[in-house]
Amino acid sequence: MPKKEKIVKAKKVEVKKVVKPTKEKVSKEKDKDASERGKKSYNLLRGMHDILPKDEKYWKPMYQAASDLAAHFQFGRIETPILEEIGLFVRSLGKGTDVVDKEMYNFEDKDGTKVCMRPEMTASAVRAYVMHGMFNMPQPVKMWYWGPMFRHDRPQAGRYRQFHQVGYETFGHADPSADAELILVAFNFYKDLGLPVEIHINSLGTPAERANYKVELVNYYRSKRSYLCEECRNRLVKNPMRLLDCKEERCQTVKEDAPQIINWLGAESKNHFMKVLEYLDELAVPYQLDSTLVRGLNYYTHTVFEVYAADAEISAQSALGGGGRYDLLVEEMGGRPTPAVGMALGLERSILALKQYNEKNHIDLVKVPTEAFVAQLGDEARRVTLKVINELRFGGVKIAFNLCKTSLKTQLELADNLKVPFAVIIGQKEVQDGTAIIRDMESGIQEIVDQKKLIPVLKRKLGKFDDKR
Ligand code: HAM
Repeated sequence: MPKKEKIVKAKKVEVKKVVKPTKEKVSKEKDKDASERGKKSYNLLRGMHDILPKDEKYWKPMYQAASDLAAHFQFGRIETPILEEIGLFVRSLGKGTDVVDKEMYNFEDKDGTKVCMRPEMTASAVRAYVMHGMFNMPQPVKMWYWGPMFRHDRPQAGRYRQFHQVGYETFGHADPSADAELILVAFNFYKDLGLPVEIHINSLGTPAERANYKVELVNYYRSKRSYLCEECRNRLVKNPMRLLDCKEERCQTVKEDAPQIINWLGAESKNHFMKVLEYLDELAVPYQLDSTLVRGLNYYTHTVFEVYAADAEISAQSALGGGGRYDLLVEEMGGRPTPAVGMALGLERSILALKQYNEKNHIDLVKVPTEAFVAQLGDEARRVTLKVINELRFGGVKIAFNLCKTSLKTQLELADNLKVPFAVIIGQKEVQDGTAIIRDMESGIQEIVDQKKLIPVLKRKLGKFDDKR
């Protein structure tokens, strides 16, 4: 027979607020502590960062949004190795790009193979498409990925040497609807996260159209050579399209009167581009035409786009993500001619922008609230408590606990800081009686319940319908 449930008025527990130490203080104390013990403490490599539990409230919804969108738009998950043959990226991204010329983490493997840590994943997806004969599958083949990328970039806010991307690639679909679909996925990703964004878009046409345009572009920039920054003088020879990308003020002025690629596009390319824009109008995706948008990788043809926070003050206006068509890359990499389009979104940069946006607009990310804190007193109780903690998980109650604490007062302070409505307390007596105490944290009123009834009673108190017992 279960014990009769009792209601008891408990003594008020005085609750202290926990004061968190600053980051600097923690770091100094850690160094001092380590050196006192004659040990060395280690820091991160430049440009690297840890993803800490406190940021889980950003990472989790991002993964949720990314995977929901993938499922809805029928992208299958692909994972490829971080290490690939260096040639894969040199050939696909192209010599003359910053990524290939300056930013690759490359080295010779023990067997002499020249390898590199992937700076992006489009090339890997193309390799996988060709290698696994995916052109034999029903087209389009749609893949998505989520993972770390490596670029030996100059670190600054939102720019790291190891960073994460979520990306989506569609193979075997030449129609403008595929371009629009990918832009829509990018737009929806930020919509789900609550960050208003807009798309900057341009068309680079075919390689032949671009080659004609480049002649004109180089002629124009040559005539302005003396105004250009040193980097742009190099670009004039190595990668003229990137002249349009320069952020130096002096080069920005030169850019204003530069020839625009749209005037070099043939009828087919123009038609493709116009159709993409019509789709975006229809979908009410906000966009800006940007005739200077060229992207930093050489594989693009036709549509290119980037995603920016709609509020120009957010993230110093660096792109949150970008992509475009790469209709020739699969063939270049040894596959059959296959049109393709894709995009990737930078996750650290997206979090940074989201934090800035939320702060500016006084938006608090709502964490799923903890419903109960499970506290224990004594060795025996701890053993039973771990079992109860596990049962509560299957019972669908969101709990917190700290088995490292032995004082009830401290545990109730933790519960109070978490603002949980209830604490479940198990001490020596409760272990013997097979009971648990449910404490209403607001009123301090305590009720003794049979452990077997803990979940339904707690759920009833939480106003949750119990469908399990
Ligand atoms: P991407 O523009 O080089 O494109 O990179 C996409 C996004 O990754 C950027 O917009 C940015 O948010 C983030 N990102 C790039 N470098 C860094 C960095 N050093 N630190 C932090 N975030 C960074 C690509 O990677 C192409 N693969 C996109 C694509 C897919 N095109 C077709 N399919």
